[in-house]
Amino acid sequence: MRFRFTPVSGAGLVLFCLLLGAVQSYALQLNLTDSKGTCLFAKWEMNFTISYETTNRTLKTVTISEPSNVTYNGSSCGNDRNSTKIVVQFGSAISWEVNFTKEASYYFIDSILLSYNTSDSTTFPGAADKGSVPVNNSLQTVKFPLNNIYRCNSLLIFNTDPVVQRYWHIHLQAFVENGTVSKKEHVCDEDIPVTTVAPIIHTTVPSPTTTPTPTPKVGNYNVTNGNATCLLATMGLQLNITEEKVPFIFNINPATTDFTGKCLPQTAQLRLNNSQIKYLDFIFAVKSENRFYLKGVNVSMYLANGSAFSVSNNNLSFWDAPLGSSYMCNKEQVVSVSRTFQINTFNLKVQPFNVTEGKYSTAQDCSADEDNFLVPIAVGAALAGVLTLVLLAYFIGLKRHHTGYEQF
Ligand SMILES: *[C@@H]1O[C@H](CO)[C@@H](O)[C@H](O)[C@H]1NC(C)=O
Ligand SMILES: *[C@@H]1O[C@H](CO)[C@@H](O)[C@H](O)[C@H]1NC(C)=O
Ligand SMILES: *[C@@H]1O[C@H](CO)[C@@H](O)[C@H](O)[C@H]1NC(C)=O
Ligand SMILES: *[C@@H]1O[C@H](CO)[C@@H](O)[C@H](O)[C@H]1NC(C)=O
Ligand SMILES: *[C@@H]1O[C@H](CO)[C@@H](O)[C@H](O)[C@H]1NC(C)=O
Ligand SMILES: *[C@@H]1O[C@H](CO)[C@@H](O)[C@H](O)[C@H]1NC(C)=O
Ligand SMILES: *[C@@H]1O[C@H](CO)[C@@H](O)[C@H](O)[C@H]1NC(C)=O
Ligand SMILES: *[C@@H]1O[C@H](CO)[C@@H](O)[C@H](O)[C@H]1NC(C)=O
Ligand SMILES: *[C@@H]1O[C@H](CO)[C@@H](O)[C@H](O)[C@H]1NC(C)=O
Ligand SMILES: *[C@@H]1O[C@H](CO)[C@@H](O)[C@H](O)[C@H]1NC(C)=O
Repeated sequence: MRFRFTPVSGAGLVLFCLLLGAVQSYALQLNLTDSKGTCLFAKWEMNFTISYETTNRTLKTVTISEPSNVTYNGSSCGNDRNSTKIVVQFGSAISWEVNFTKEASYYFIDSILLSYNTSDSTTFPGAADKGSVPVNNSLQTVKFPLNNIYRCNSLLIFNTDPVVQRYWHIHLQAFVENGTVSKKEHVCDEDIPVTTVAPIIHTTVPSPTTTPTPTPKVGNYNVTNGNATCLLATMGLQLNITEEKVPFIFNINPATTDFTGKCLPQTAQLRLNNSQIKYLDFIFAVKSENRFYLKGVNVSMYLANGSAFSVSNNNLSFWDAPLGSSYMCNKEQVVSVSRTFQINTFNLKVQPFNVTEGKYSTAQDCSADEDNFLVPIAVGAALAGVLTLVLLAYFIGLKRHHTGYEQF
């Protein structure tokens, strides 16, 4: 079994260095072989930003991307004794290990274990606590199809406090079958631009087929306080960013999105985050007349080209309902946050306050707003109908009565 490490440099790299705040980085590469040839191939870039406390009680942040001294000891294609894993040592201060589990048609990452040793005073100068710190996270929701090379150029960010892990330019194939890396590429969702094509007016060229963005999957994002659920949210979310002429439409995948939040007496917050969204906050508030509403949205995310996009609006007024009830809207609804950012919601149901026994209370339906107009019309129509019938009956009766009279 052989390991090889090739530092790579190039234009793409320089661009990312700029985007990542001039943090220098090189590609990591691992080509594990067995008797048949290659059994695992991986090429990727990563860095870690670690916060630690110093002896004078201040928080210090270091970003580690030190590939000049990388070793891959312990990496394995998997056998009776070892699981399939990639192990990387950055000098003596950092060790990073990822292991894979194979299923019938795909494999997934069982865990990513990062350990950093704050005793290393060159990497962590002035660290108060010395010793090895493990940070474990799991990525089991991402399915890598077998016999494909997985490619993901987009920046993937995992906030595993106190460490921010960043990965990009990933090419990976574990469980290579016949000794050669596949020619078939599986591109990650983050690399697929989900853009709508602007309509072309008056043209002889056949217009491009505009595939409408599919509706997002509905996710359950519940917040707990102690062991009690204090905020309930069920919704499909689609983000629409119009920084440029062509909007960037992006569906939130609940399976790969984390959520947290806070419940306070007068305000509640729901925060979503995933590899692309640093945070997406929904801020709910109580207003007079014992009602709640969506007061603010705060978002920071990475666009397809790697640059960050942030918007904050704390002066919104959506999803208004009485306290002690929930707000519901099954049809698509638009939450316009700024000139360049809107959220399209699908099958929405939220209750940010007064949740009892973890269940939704009676809902105020958004279609009730329309019903308010429809009810008088319906009642009016019904009354008119009744009146017509009464008059009709009266005249028929009168006529019958009349004719009856004449017969005598
Ligand atoms: C991996 O190494 C093997 C043997 O050295 C070589 O034949 C193969 O081309 C390498 N694969 C890649 C993708 O570099
Ligand atoms: C992967 O590593 C984690 C922690 O190091 C361990 O608990 C788990 O059993 C490993 N999984 C496999 C498939 O080896
Ligand atoms: C690389 O790391 C090893 C230990 O992992 C250390 O002995 C060596 O001095 C390091 N070399 C450089 C250039 O940092
Ligand atoms: C951490 O680093 C110190 C000094 O470099 C070393 O003595 C210690 O054994 C390391 N701890 C671990 C768990 O690797
Ligand atoms: C590997 O080789 C076997 C036997 O030749 C073949 O059946 C199988 O389809 C090959 N797998 C791939 C991914 O090429
Ligand atoms: C959580 O539930 C346990 C058992 O039901 C209870 O003993 C504990 O007090 C609860 N904690 C909070 C913060 O409500
Ligand atoms: C995205 O936003 C733009 C500008 O507000 C709008 O014209 C477009 O219809 C929106 N697209 C979707 C799918 O919501
Ligand atoms: C990325 O795209 C956004 C808008 O889509 C643009 O404002 C920004 O300048 C772009 N960044 C780079 C580095 O190209
Ligand atoms: C939005 O987030 C930023 C950064 O975390 C924060 O400074 C700001 O107060 C937040 N705005 C709202 C409305 O919560
Ligand atoms: C908030 O919105 C209200 C009504 O939409 C407007 O009158 C007020 O000026 C806004 N405040 C800020 C700070 O934008």
